[in-house]
Amino acid sequence: MNNLKQRRTIRKYSSEDISETFLTQLLTEAERTPTMGNLQLYSVVISRNSEMKRRLAPAHFNQPMVESAPVVLTFCADSRRTTLWAHQRKGNPGYNNFLSFVNAAADALLYCQTFCNLAEEKGLGTCFLGTTFYNPLSIVETLALPRLVMPVGTITLAGLPNLPTSLNVCRLKVSSTPKPIAITLPSSSTGSMPKRNPYPPTASLSR
Ligand SMILES: Cc1cc2nc3c(=O)[nH]c(=O)nc-3n(C[C@H](O)[C@H](O)[C@H](O)COP(=O)(O)O)c2cc1C
Repeated sequence: MNNLKQRRTIRKYSSEDISETFLTQLLTEAERTPTMGNLQLYSVVISRNSEMKRRLAPAHFNQPMVESAPVVLTFCADSRRTTLWAHQRKGNPGYNNFLSFVNAAADALLYCQTFCNLAEEKGLGTCFLGTTFYNPLSIVETLALPRLVMPVGTITLAGLPNLPTSLNVCRLKVSSTPKPIAITLPSSSTGSMPKRNPYPPTASLSR
């Protein structure tokens, strides 16, 4: 758990691939995550193929990590499997509603976090892409997700870059009296949804 105190989001990657066996091991170990009624209301789509990553990139505002990481994982709230299960038992599923979506989204995101903890503990780098919340429909189309399977989180997964030793330790100085940041919204803004991508591709966050 020492890893949790040291972890950082990683946006630049080594060229190493991640083996299918290792990835499957991490995904399986993460299944110890608690879930609603032990139903595991999530599915994960693994994208390794360059063409698929290229097609996913615009939904993530072309953040470079999508195409540079060997593996992109899309975590989905999945009420479809329990719906099929109910149908097979001649039951009335009733999972096509907001409550079921929230339950499934909680399962998927908790699972995602456990996966990230395990991956980082094993020395991999991850970056959570909240852009999934902005463009879920485009992701649904690209990945051809079936009904009742909704993407709620994406991570890029990769080996850490080989940094020169002198750059391995980096201390950030944070002012003890942070100044409030003023954000001016355009007058046409409704205030309901941010119109700008908070992670434009040109933003350089290097540590
Ligand atoms: C909901 C959510 C959405 C995020 N979306 C992005 C994203 O789209 N692009 C990105 O580079 N980082 C994204 N991040 C990572 C955060 O920027 C990062 O965790 C934060 O700056 C703290 O840095 P650290 O993880 O290195 O401690 C997201 C994190 C969360 C929890």
